[in-house]
Amino acid sequence: MTLPFDLNQRPRRLRRTATLRRMVNETRLSANDFMYPLFVCHGKNVSEPIGSMPGVYHLSVDNIIKQAENAFKLGVPSVLLFGLPKTKNARASEAYAEKGIVQQAVRAIKQNVPDLVVATDVCVCAYTDHGHCGVLRDGEVDNDPSAELLAKMAVSHAAAGADIVAPSAMMDGQVAAIRYALDDKGFKNTAIMGYSAKYASAFYGPFREAADSAPGKGDRKAYQMDPANAREALLETELDVEEGADIIMVKPALAYLDVLSLMRENFEQPLAAYNVSGEYSMVKAAAAKGWADERAVALEMLTSMRRAGADIIISYWAADAARWLAE
Ligand code: PBG
Repeated sequence: MTLPFDLNQRPRRLRRTATLRRMVNETRLSANDFMYPLFVCHGKNVSEPIGSMPGVYHLSVDNIIKQAENAFKLGVPSVLLFGLPKTKNARASEAYAEKGIVQQAVRAIKQNVPDLVVATDVCVCAYTDHGHCGVLRDGEVDNDPSAELLAKMAVSHAAAGADIVAPSAMMDGQVAAIRYALDDKGFKNTAIMGYSAKYASAFYGPFREAADSAPGKGDRKAYQMDPANAREALLETELDVEEGADIIMVKPALAYLDVLSLMRENFEQPLAAYNVSGEYSMVKAAAAKGWADERAVALEMLTSMRRAGADIIISYWAADAARWLAE
């Protein structure tokens, strides 16, 4: 059977060969796009697999240097550090300790891989005994003292040499509090990456095992955003930008690609997408069952984040993806 009319447009013409497809490809993914999250713990030569996140480890400082170096050699420009403290308490005291685990890791990485950009997560949920992202008063997270605590934590990271501090606690005014404290202490060049539109998402499940940061009681809905809201993402981001954020973010990424593209249209700052633990682990689990091709699915997901407008993709696949893209 042939069509009884001529087609003027045949988009398949440009899909015919690999070279034609390469020529008209609109979205290019490269190692440069990634930021690699790493979990640092106390001890020596520790490399403890995280059950809920195959391929991700709790690493002691000596091992984190190796991972950071490896990622940098693969072309990944930056890492994002999360810490597992020795002790947790109501004041989250290890969060801002000069010899805290993240502070040690930052120093060690900057000493050994000086050109690698080191970003740090600034949130106290892994450091408080109750697991919330700030200090509690009458069972509720008290905003302003929490913002101050985050500022203190950010200054300690900057003092250790962090290039970027990334507040993720969703406290009002956290970026302003951090910018003020950094400038006041002489860290004018430390950049801030705001977790501007961070949703109260079920996709963080596996991470809470990784960072041992699940709230003991309740949830985070009184400070993280409602997944149903997109306009509110613009409001949160406007505030972050006014307060001095250098980089803005949408988190999670995969179920929020519409929010990413909205942010791309409305802001000029570099835009980050956080490809979170749940997005990673569900592909790993499906791949382990033989139901998904990990590499193909992961690269398709990462490409979709770029297509939606992300400049930076924070991903547990960063090193693997950089390797796949180089093959
Ligand atoms: C800390 C924080 C979380 C994540 C990044 N920073 C957990 C949370 O808010 O519950 C999630 C990262 C991931 O799921 O990969 N507040």
